[in-house]
Amino acid sequence: HARQYSVATPTRDASSFAFAFDIDGVLLRSSAPLPGAAAALTYLHKHNIPFILLTNGGGKHESERVAELSKKLGVPLSEENFVQSHTPFKQLVEGTETAEALKDKTILVTGGDGDKCRKVAEMYGFKNVVTPGDILMHYPDIWPFNQIFSDYYKSTTRPLPRPVDIQNLQNSLKFDAIFVFNDPRDWALDNQIILDLLLSKQGYLGTYSEKNGDSTLPNNGWQQDGQPKLYFSNPDLFWATSYHLPRLGQGGFQACLQGVWEATTGGAELKRTIIGKPHYETYKYGERVLNKYRAQLLGFGDQEEAITPLKRVFMIGDNPESDIRGANQFNSPRGTEWTSVLIKTGVYRAGTVPAYTPKVIVDDVFAAVKWSLEQEG
Ligand code: G3P
Ligand code: MG
Repeated sequence: HARQYSVATPTRDASSFAFAFDIDGVLLRSSAPLPGAAAALTYLHKHNIPFILLTNGGGKHESERVAELSKKLGVPLSEENFVQSHTPFKQLVEGTETAEALKDKTILVTGGDGDKCRKVAEMYGFKNVVTPGDILMHYPDIWPFNQIFSDYYKSTTRPLPRPVDIQNLQNSLKFDAIFVFNDPRDWALDNQIILDLLLSKQGYLGTYSEKNGDSTLPNNGWQQDGQPKLYFSNPDLFWATSYHLPRLGQGGFQACLQGVWEATTGGAELKRTIIGKPHYETYKYGERVLNKYRAQLLGFGDQEEAITPLKRVFMIGDNPESDIRGANQFNSPRGTEWTSVLIKTGVYRAGTVPAYTPKVIVDDVFAAVKWSLEQEG
């Protein structure tokens, strides 16, 4: 029998609270909608209760992903209420108060199918985006075992941005930053290329910095010679897919690279910037998107200051390490309370004690919305 998804209409002003939904393990399992997901979002949409999707997933441009999700979940979604793992990287095109503008710099981007993430980075505004596959096609012997993948790389790579001679520093290619936008597909090649750049002379491909390993330098001498900055977009070690057990996520690749770096350098720290849930930057970015979207949804246009402040966000997630930990630890710059709600349809295994304690544990996303609305009277 079809389960009845119904809940009392909220009696109080719906504008004082909102929702943030994780995707994998909450709304979808791999690409199939989970029970109650469509009903939950449709209910909120019908009652004009603001929500955003806040996912550590990615690999496509936001416009492409929301079109797919709207169709799958039967509810209108837009880029205005959708934040993926790499969405906050948009801030690095023009630069922020703490990070240089990378718009015109040469960056390495890896992750996702083929060179989809290159195209996402270019749609964000990055002008010189190179993939590990581009480098492999230019220097096949940079990794000896990739001939088996050459068909794949042939169809998804581009020539390097200019003629390059890695034997001659002046004509080599300098990389200023390395981005992991989504889960890498070829961990071997990506590990090798990223390690090369981290050991290089100021990011010049094909060089090795004599400074590396110079124990008179801090961090026992490694990564001291102007190496490119390394950015990860998603720390998830595991995530929920169509397989019945959690699968390694981008955090698995990060752990692998860290292992290779530490083995190479005798234990030096791998300096990197990590965004994605549970990190503060992603919750701060998500809260900003949610507030902007809420003002528009509730008829205030861009007059956010005119609307009653958002008092509470219910964060509905399946992964204690990212969704629950992030919401619990997020110290909102706007003083908004983030309430974590853990559900049993994803990474978290029912009956076990979660590593980070949610406000409540319920069966699925509809039960999570029902519980949250009951908290709001
Ligand atoms: O790659 C996606 C996975 O890490 C988890 O995504 O939607 O559960 O944050 P999500
Ligand atoms: Mg999830």
